[in-house]
Amino acid sequence: MSADDLRDLLLRWQAGWVTARSYRSAMDGDTVTVDVGLAERRTETLLLDADPELYAAVAESVAGPAQWLTAPTTDRARTHAAAVDAGFTPHAPEWLMTRPLAGHPEPEVPAGYDTWLSGRPPLLVAEVVTDGDGPRALAAKGHLALSAADAVADRIFTVPEHRRRGLGSIVMATLTTAARERGAVTGLLVASEQGRLLYERLGWRVVTELTVADWSGHGSPASPADPLE
Ligand SMILES: CC(C)(COP(=O)(O)OP(=O)(O)OC[C@H]1O[C@@H](n2cnc3c(N)ncnc32)[C@H](O)[C@@H]1OP(=O)(O)O)[C@@H](O)C(=O)NCCC(=O)NCCS
Repeated sequence: MSADDLRDLLLRWQAGWVTARSYRSAMDGDTVTVDVGLAERRTETLLLDADPELYAAVAESVAGPAQWLTAPTTDRARTHAAAVDAGFTPHAPEWLMTRPLAGHPEPEVPAGYDTWLSGRPPLLVAEVVTDGDGPRALAAKGHLALSAADAVADRIFTVPEHRRRGLGSIVMATLTTAARERGAVTGLLVASEQGRLLYERLGWRVVTELTVADWSGHGSPASPADPLE
């Protein structure tokens, strides 16, 4: 994929992501600064290019408390080394993924569960709840933001005891069907390792690996106390 195409997909994903989370963001050259506003994650910088040298320069320039840095990578070891050099701690890998919404699998809802679709464009929320005589319990949930012709899925989650029963697939089907009915054409998301297994099964493909890192500062050099001092 060309650098321009990668940049375009990253920008389109972040446009939906900030909508899904009600974050403010500002683009400046090769980066987008997202105002997350949490004590431990004040600002997240998204780098729009996979060049490791650019990564190293941006990491140095944004390093500081509560700073996160997310960037595409084609060389995990080199990107992680640059992150660590600037005081960042890389997280588990994530992946930007996409698929056309047309033809997205729409499996049957398994027995014992019901689906709910709520929210109002641009934000849709799908929930799968238990269906029985007792109180309904949440089993799976996901969000999706509509952004131009894109549908950006976010925070897809199945409660641990309900996993591997097809509910993550139902959440994705509910959201993507609703998005398609509202005119969206292309799906975009950032996947965790577990999420990637689900989305690949549903026909999504990886655009790029992402390195997500948070600044933890340069640890002080390991220097055992001198017993003579
Ligand atoms: C990822 C997650 C949402 C999957 O939910 P789920 O309800 O278990 O997904 P499904 O049952 O619909 O899985 C459908 C298929 O995806 C694949 N899959 C999903 N989770 C998998 C896993 N942990 N390991 C291997 N394959 C997996 C399998 O092919 C599975 O079909 P199978 O069970 O017949 O083998 C769930 O594991 C989760 O909430 N994880 C923690 C949060 C998270 O990472 N969310 C994704 C954020 S991007």
